[in-house]
Amino acid sequence: MGAVIVIDSFWGDSGKGKIAAWMSKRDNALVCARAGIGTNAGHSIYMSDGELIKTRQLPLGFMNPDTQIVIGSGVAVDPEVFADEVERYGLADRVKVDYRCPVILPEHRERETANAHLSETVGSTKSGSGAARVDFILRKNKQARDIDSLKPYADDVAKIVNEAAAEGLVIVECSQGTYLSLALSPDYPFVTSDNCTAAAAADDVGLNWQLIDGCCLIVKAVPSRVGEGPLPGELDPEEIKKRGIDEYGVVTGRLRRKAESIPYDMLRYACMLNGPTEIAVTFMDHYDPECANAVTPDQITQKAWDLIKTIEKETGVPVTIVETGKLFDHIVDIKDVPRP
Ligand code: IMP
Ligand code: MG
Repeated sequence: MGAVIVIDSFWGDSGKGKIAAWMSKRDNALVCARAGIGTNAGHSIYMSDGELIKTRQLPLGFMNPDTQIVIGSGVAVDPEVFADEVERYGLADRVKVDYRCPVILPEHRERETANAHLSETVGSTKSGSGAARVDFILRKNKQARDIDSLKPYADDVAKIVNEAAAEGLVIVECSQGTYLSLALSPDYPFVTSDNCTAAAAADDVGLNWQLIDGCCLIVKAVPSRVGEGPLPGELDPEEIKKRGIDEYGVVTGRLRRKAESIPYDMLRYACMLNGPTEIAVTFMDHYDPECANAVTPDQITQKAWDLIKTIEKETGVPVTIVETGKLFDHIVDIKDVPRP
């Protein structure tokens, strides 16, 4: 089988966690591994009974009860956030943290909060992820194996991931987005503290490249950005609210900025960097409210199909999944569906 890496094409907040959870369930993944930076991410899923599942540290692949969830050694772990999520979702028996993960301590959060450059210029989430990475690079941070509360979960996640990928399916759930990459975004310093590409995600979890079977690139139908930095075709906040597509950050509660349309030149560059084998288009209901909550291909509107066809034409990559609404079920598999 091998591993499929789920990556965001622009600035994140595109539903990677939900798509990774849905793929873990559909294809009964053995393992869902969290890649990315740290707790600066926010992943959420609304269930049909009204429950909101929200994580900043754990991958949402736990939505499949048979999937083991792990955090790769490249991801900064906040022991408080980790403990809270493990307890809230009852995951103690199937979660592992790589023993080498750098940890986020209260002082890391405090340092970011007190840093005007990060708060005001960059628009950081102030989760402590970057400061924890700084100390790790200076080789003075603690690792998961040094923290009593993490010890029971500490394991060799690289080994778990590579062994599972040799045998069955592994989903690698990244966080942030390609254009927030530290060394690959044109927007430095308006970026996060590491790269957020498919290769970076594989490295975050210690995955051998020969075991990569595919990359699912998430394209948000109406791209958004939180924090500072350029956003081509940015909509006015009043216009965002008028259209009813206002969203607020899971970690910070900030109103997400929105773009008028997909910047195709940037999307092609994201494809060049990530090498996607398939694309999932998310938030299609923000692009065309008429197709909100569609669950079958015939409920997808012509306007939405036209966007799908444009994305396929511009990138040369097949769109296989469309997300149409907030609930976990509001996803349509269009892999082999003829395009009207
Ligand atoms: P930091 O990584 O929290 O320091 O934030 C740096 C920049 O990346 C800011 O513009 C944040 O808003 C943005 N950012 C970090 N993590 C995420 C994420 O998961 N989704 C969207 N934006 C993020
Ligand atoms: Mg990394």
